[in-house]
Amino acid sequence: MKEQNASARIQELLGRMTLQEKIGQLNQQNICAYADNVEEIKQEIREGKIGSLLFSGSAIPENGGTEAFDLDFTRELQAAAMESRLQIPLLLGRDVIHGFETVFPIPLMMAASFDDRLIEECYSALAQEAGNAGVRWAFAPMLDLSRDPRWGRVIEGPGEDPLLGSRYAASAVRGFQGDSPAQEGRLLACAKHFIGYGASEGGRDYHHTEISNYALQNQYLPAFRAAVRAGVGSVMASFNELSGQPVTGSRRLLTEVLRDQLGFDGFVVSDWGGVEQLEAQGIAENGADCARLALQAGVDMDMADQCFARHLEAEVKAGRVAMEELDRAVERVLQAKLRAGLFRQPVRDAVKTDRAKHRALARRIAGESMVLLKNEQSLLPLSKKGRVALTGCMAQNRESLMGAWTPDGDADSVITLEEGIRAVAPELELFTESSPLFGDMTAVMEQADTVILALGESARASGEFHCLADISLPEDQAALALRARRLGKKVVGLLCFGRPIALGDTLSLFDAILYTGHAGCEAGRAAAELLFGDRNPSGHLAMTLPRSVGQLPLYYNAAPSGRPVNGYYTECRNYIDESGAPLYPFGYGLSYTSFQVEKAELEQETLSLSELAAGKQAVVHIRVTNTGERDGDTVLQLYLRDPAASLTRPLRELKAYERRTLPAGETADFVFRLGMEELGYYLPDGTLTLEKGEIRLFAGFDAWAEKCVRLQII
Ligand code: GLC
Repeated sequence: MKEQNASARIQELLGRMTLQEKIGQLNQQNICAYADNVEEIKQEIREGKIGSLLFSGSAIPENGGTEAFDLDFTRELQAAAMESRLQIPLLLGRDVIHGFETVFPIPLMMAASFDDRLIEECYSALAQEAGNAGVRWAFAPMLDLSRDPRWGRVIEGPGEDPLLGSRYAASAVRGFQGDSPAQEGRLLACAKHFIGYGASEGGRDYHHTEISNYALQNQYLPAFRAAVRAGVGSVMASFNELSGQPVTGSRRLLTEVLRDQLGFDGFVVSDWGGVEQLEAQGIAENGADCARLALQAGVDMDMADQCFARHLEAEVKAGRVAMEELDRAVERVLQAKLRAGLFRQPVRDAVKTDRAKHRALARRIAGESMVLLKNEQSLLPLSKKGRVALTGCMAQNRESLMGAWTPDGDADSVITLEEGIRAVAPELELFTESSPLFGDMTAVMEQADTVILALGESARASGEFHCLADISLPEDQAALALRARRLGKKVVGLLCFGRPIALGDTLSLFDAILYTGHAGCEAGRAAAELLFGDRNPSGHLAMTLPRSVGQLPLYYNAAPSGRPVNGYYTECRNYIDESGAPLYPFGYGLSYTSFQVEKAELEQETLSLSELAAGKQAVVHIRVTNTGERDGDTVLQLYLRDPAASLTRPLRELKAYERRTLPAGETADFVFRLGMEELGYYLPDGTLTLEKGEIRLFAGFDAWAEKCVRLQII
């Protein structure tokens, strides 16, 4: 009944709209509170020429707050909308990617927690904070699967795996939208960037992406499939041109795949200027072509370039765009506004938020996502009463620990690594550059037994259009590690990089390495709790760590070869000058304890295709023991290998995982259930299929999992 009322209401409204008002609903304008065109924009809103506003500026907090906005400003804007003839409320959007006032780790690190529930809680917290500033639509989650850390935007997404990306997608959409985006403390989510943007050639942003339909269906679409199933209200089209088709102008991708195959029923917004870029991308001769092609492809709202506003009226009047096509886009936008509760409440009062709770969430997920890569002779955890030197570019840094895409973050609220260490280990003898006694680092290091090197990159070295051709450890940072090594010190490396980096031979300079990533406002405290043992590391890589940039792209779910040359799994020299193996594989992460897969067995070793098609599942029981002396969280992973199918399937495919706390010495049983969709694969046309034969399942704690059970499908 509710659906019918909504539809009737939209049809009634649509019936009263002029052509100009319809086009106005599809027009999204950027606005900054301090810009000099606010009054002009308000007047256009009153005239029904603007349906949505995005508050977008830099991806890093600008001191001047140039893109600042708040609830009062959004009230003003909605008031202008209420003065329009039909009083259709504005939809106000913002890049709430992984932080608002509270800044969580970058999504690539949050994914490394493999903690779906916690990720959902983080996005719920973000929805509350952003909603209190008047934001009703977040341009997130970013779900671009990427295998190339040269691309600066790897930090924004959940990494290289389809399943991890899918679970992340569902957690983020649920966290943002709850049961309904109209509820207090909830907002509309936006799955982006559809589709394939993460495959930008050479890691060069906005470049060509060559993706087969087979790869599209099995690698790049799963996260969006999950977002659609979770009810995501909007999708953002991606900038890239995919195998000759700019996505923004591709009916095949935006309608036949996204809507007809995946069943998406929300609205599609272009990315910034994506509509008019169709001309530069070579499928449109002018702005009018751009507007028509994008609308007919399936773009419903035009972000920031006013291409729809400038050209659609003439295109409709000339009969090159049918009124039905226009109406379809307007209906979708109005439906989203209705669903977001905007007609009922154009502006919601602020909800009470518990900022301390949000910071506690930030600290918890930062601690769960940091990955212990190396820990020779169990150097870590350190004693709280030792003599430690702390140096490196990130030791006292605040802004960069927040990561890119944190325009609403407050660097002053970030706990630095030094502050975290002093708080967690107050009796430590800590020597740092800021120690009054020392000028140069050698003197600082000589005082200590252990040197903690806080290495990393600026938040401005990753994110949109911030790609790197060289992702090795910067020379000056490697030199610092060498100096500490030559002084005979124990060396702990903290990698505060946004993207995975290629440590290469510098790996040997460190006795222990904690990959912290850009871990948000509580990074310093979370890292210190791990370094000194208050917490046990439990992060697992969401993206492969290569040895060198020359190996890229390098990812775990690689296709088999006719020759045993896939260095990822069979150590061999794919190059004359380099191994084919990563430094650390997808899913890898150490702990201060150790876990063992004692046993893995199938409830039924044989299943028929008809049973599976009828919904029966393969049930795998896996027994895991914490064989160490410390409690810890493990992330048990189950990988699939189908050695003989109609199309080649990857050497490993993650098909299940579960994070669980396991007390020292205890054993626990995990149960994974795999049905048709987990065991099967998608054909290039999007058909899910599964064939008779053997399926091998590997249980373990990273992509090199070895404990194997064999399922026969008959
Ligand atoms: C940018 C990004 C997109 C973002 C949008 C609005 O170009 O590609 O992810 O949501 O513009 O800021």
